[in-house]
Amino acid sequence: MDLKLRQFRNLVIGAFIIAVCIHFISISDVFHYHWSTHQNSAKTSQIPQKDDITKRGIKQEPKVEQHNVNVSTDQELINYLAKYLDVIWTVKDDPQYNTEHILFLKNTGLKRVSQTDWKIYFSQMSILNPNLKNINDSYPKNVVVGEDKTFILTHVSGSLYCIYPRKEVFIFFEPGSTIKIPLTATKFQRSRTDSLPNWYVVGSKSKPKIIESTKGENLNFVKSFGSQLTSKERYRINNNHTDLKRTQKYVVPSPEEIAVMSNDTIMLKPEEWVIQKSDEFPDEIKYLADALKVKVATTTSPDKVIKMVKGKPIFKNTQLGESDEAYELKIDGKSADIQITAITGHGIFNGIQTLLSLSDKTIVPGPIVLNSVTIKDRPRFEYRGIMLDVSRNFHPKETVFKLLDLMAMYKLNKFHLHLSDDEGWRLEIPDIPELTQLGSKRCHDESETLCLMPSFGSGPYIHDQSSGFYNISDYKEILKYANERHIQVIPEIDMPGHMRAALKSISLRASRKGAIRDQYKMTDKADGNSYRSLQGYNDNIANPCRDGLYAFVDKVIDTVVEAHKDIQPLTLFHFGGDKIPKPALQGMKCKENKTDLMYNFIQRLFQKKQFTNVSFGAWDDSFLKPDKTPYTVESLQNITKENRSVYAFVYQEDNKAVFKLANLGYKVINSPASLHHFNHPYEKDTEERGSKWATEFINTKMVFAFNPLKGEDGYGELKKPENIVGIQAHVWTELVQTTDQLEYMMFPRLIAFAERAWHHASWHETNNVTEMERDWIEFLNNLVYKELPKLDKLNVHYRIPPPGAIIEDGKLHFNTYYPGLTVEYSVDSPGNEKQWYKVSGDETLSEQIILRTLSADGKRHSREIKLDRSIW
Ligand SMILES: *[C@@H]1O[C@H](CO)[C@@H](O)[C@H](O)[C@H]1NC(C)=O
Ligand SMILES: *[C@@H]1O[C@H](CO)[C@@H](O)[C@H](O)[C@H]1NC(C)=O
Ligand SMILES: *[C@@H]1O[C@H](CO)[C@@H](O)[C@H](O)[C@H]1NC(C)=O
Ligand SMILES: *[C@@H]1O[C@H](CO)[C@@H](O)[C@H](O)[C@H]1NC(C)=O
Ligand SMILES: *[C@@H]1O[C@H](CO)[C@@H](O)[C@H](O)[C@H]1NC(C)=O
Ligand SMILES: *[C@@H]1O[C@H](CO)[C@@H](O)[C@H](O)[C@H]1NC(C)=O
Ligand SMILES: *[C@@H]1O[C@H](CO)[C@@H](O)[C@H](O)[C@H]1NC(C)=O
Ligand SMILES: *[C@@H]1O[C@H](CO)[C@@H](O)[C@H](O)[C@H]1NC(C)=O
Ligand SMILES: *[C@@H]1O[C@H](CO)[C@@H](O)[C@H](O)[C@H]1NC(C)=O
Ligand SMILES: *[C@@H]1O[C@H](CO)[C@@H](O)[C@H](O)[C@H]1NC(C)=O
Repeated sequence: MDLKLRQFRNLVIGAFIIAVCIHFISISDVFHYHWSTHQNSAKTSQIPQKDDITKRGIKQEPKVEQHNVNVSTDQELINYLAKYLDVIWTVKDDPQYNTEHILFLKNTGLKRVSQTDWKIYFSQMSILNPNLKNINDSYPKNVVVGEDKTFILTHVSGSLYCIYPRKEVFIFFEPGSTIKIPLTATKFQRSRTDSLPNWYVVGSKSKPKIIESTKGENLNFVKSFGSQLTSKERYRINNNHTDLKRTQKYVVPSPEEIAVMSNDTIMLKPEEWVIQKSDEFPDEIKYLADALKVKVATTTSPDKVIKMVKGKPIFKNTQLGESDEAYELKIDGKSADIQITAITGHGIFNGIQTLLSLSDKTIVPGPIVLNSVTIKDRPRFEYRGIMLDVSRNFHPKETVFKLLDLMAMYKLNKFHLHLSDDEGWRLEIPDIPELTQLGSKRCHDESETLCLMPSFGSGPYIHDQSSGFYNISDYKEILKYANERHIQVIPEIDMPGHMRAALKSISLRASRKGAIRDQYKMTDKADGNSYRSLQGYNDNIANPCRDGLYAFVDKVIDTVVEAHKDIQPLTLFHFGGDKIPKPALQGMKCKENKTDLMYNFIQRLFQKKQFTNVSFGAWDDSFLKPDKTPYTVESLQNITKENRSVYAFVYQEDNKAVFKLANLGYKVINSPASLHHFNHPYEKDTEERGSKWATEFINTKMVFAFNPLKGEDGYGELKKPENIVGIQAHVWTELVQTTDQLEYMMFPRLIAFAERAWHHASWHETNNVTEMERDWIEFLNNLVYKELPKLDKLNVHYRIPPPGAIIEDGKLHFNTYYPGLTVEYSVDSPGNEKQWYKVSGDETLSEQIILRTLSADGKRHSREIKLDRSIW
């Protein structure tokens, strides 16, 4: 789902410009990097000498030194290379064009490598080629590379590349010598974290091993970039973020109405209070009892009791649509009771979340003191979702449970689970065991009969981040957990594209004996591989004309529907449908009219009897005819004579497409990639994690300031605003390996997202920027003084932004994106243990210093940055 047509276009433009520019960029400009000393290097100098680079020992007589002993057996060779090969990857950041890379391979051991039976495999998100000039050969196939033309680079598939010595010309790789390989990557390769770890080396008769210098998430092998955001630029960005010293909002997301009733407060001591037992809302009563540690009992006492009552809150604003999620929370200091009123359990649950937020004791420990207040509240959107991609990297159910708790806390109610893609199939389908036996695992296996080949730096071995799946009982546990929190799980099985993991699994099945062989056959040699998906695959699309695809869908859907049945009946299914290159479907062998195979596919999917009561969702590009205009919803519904809703998840375009689809009758989820793809970086800095294809960065303010219904000239009239049912945040996980990384990408900007999903801001109607800015400052202060400390307590690894800082009048001035966080400095002296001091703002500093921001609880810190000393 990641690279885009835009990339393609830019590639063409970029390639052209590079071709022109390349004459002006000398390689020595690109070649500036710091030598890493962590390896057992024979050299003592920090910077490699020119000599060192040219002395590759290729086609030269070996320099005989006493300790030079050849590496002997195949496995010994691999082990040696894994241990002593120092990989250094230099990247020159260029925001406009493709990036220049140089790969250095240094033999830091004491042995000479004379064999050629070794290959290095590594992952790389963008297209990599020694000369990205010709769009037609953009992926390298057996291209000669290296200054001495002694290596071959080849694209394996997807994100996987391979580089190896050319047998005919490679002779010796001397100890201490370095091989230099200049390369070019497309323009999205611009941050350290765009490079992926766990490169490995393998021979034809030996086991693969990870190259130690590339191991793990620290990415020390990736060296200098051209640029970075300076502390001065950060200072300017943060400058408007006024520190109000305390929280201004009662609750986030903000409620619709808050009325302070009196100045009476109540003290909620759990051991003294009870929750009134009732036949209504037993699940919600239990949830609150567990959360607050308050007993449930029948009581006649009017005091110290929490009641849940069925009833309909009456709002001041009668213009806004009704919602069965509405609630009223009344905290009455005089009578010492608390009452939550709603029509549905979901409404009660929302009221409970508000009460829990008001009762949170993170900031002021001790007894819970509550003000007398009446809150009336309802969501702006009925659909408030998060999409998690568990295919590209697997995230275990424990991570999902934690996420569901956080979603509930911020009143998010839809969990879209992207269960399948090219690089992994993550749901057990008992009738097709190959899907998880093979399709859920990644390791080095060129035959791809044991596992899929590695992607996204997953390395040669099966491990938890790249390999894994939910078995039926895991999946049901997720459904139950979500259901208890009034969160609907929307499973996505991406079809008919993005199916490589499934197609490889089905190939394995086809190699087995007996009747099962051809059961789910959905591709054929005759279908050709004359396409290349944006992620670099030519074997990831099923042929929508083959019955095997529908037999396969039947099995998968039966399993999904059955798993949901007694917990949370399936009412919305997402079939992906995205990113199918045109030539792919045209190349398919097919007896039917091939003009619009996607329509044929949707039509056959809709007709499945399992879907009788199920609505459909897909990415917006699935609903486009070959001429790029959307289908009418009637033409889709017409197929079954039922009026099932069709949900378009709009990510490719802006509100213009949103308006158009809503007017056509689609239920629209407004989730523009440039704002809601939380796998993009928070700021434009080469050290910041995140994909860049949709936008350079997405900061918390951009998420906060979004107006999902805002029109512009040329958008036309929004005739059916009620069809824009919600918004969704997406986390694609190509660059998100660990749970910490996942939480970093999500928080805190997900809280701003929740505010937009739930709360109808007045400035959405008026477009008054001053009002928006004021609301934003209140929100920011609420984050710092309430939400971030809560996240700290819950052990959520949210992103801590590096500080902004300048020197003015000889003094250090600093600020933070989330105002009020503590900043520390240290004197920059490499090698020594750093001493950190809290910045007060009065410092007069003569030395070069480094800075960092602390988390709200002071226990974690941001990455360290250098103070930019240039004049303000
Ligand atoms: C090392 O390999 C080279 C080339 O294969 C060979 O000429 C030489 O004799 C070998 N040296 C030892 C000590 O095995
Ligand atoms: C790329 O291939 C297309 C179709 O084969 C051809 O028309 C075009 O000229 C090629 N472009 C270049 C730059 O070689
Ligand atoms: C700061 O706020 C002012 C007024 O609200 C606005 O004009 C200005 O662009 C803001 N500066 C930044 C860097 O956001
Ligand atoms: C609360 O007290 C303040 C002064 O302490 C007063 O101005 C205000 O009217 C009171 N509010 C209510 C709702 O009684
Ligand atoms: C499902 O997987 C979990 C681990 O996630 C395991 O504990 C459990 O035994 C498995 N259940 C079945 C039925 O295989
Ligand atoms: C195929 O279908 C398209 C519309 O989807 C139609 O315009 C075209 O005439 C059809 N071709 C044939 C040969 O039936
Ligand atoms: C669809 O829903 C209706 C009404 O709730 C129910 O009677 C029917 O059995 C359902 N059909 C299927 C196939 O689940
Ligand atoms: C729906 O089907 C009917 C009869 O099959 C046909 O007359 C009508 O044009 C179709 N409507 C759309 C919007 O495709
Ligand atoms: C579908 O919608 C149309 C128009 O809104 C209505 O006339 C028809 O009865 C509906 N059909 C079903 C099966 O609900
Ligand atoms: C925007 O809101 C501010 C504060 O509420 C108000 O003073 C100003 O007049 C408003 N501007 C416009 C153009 O309505």
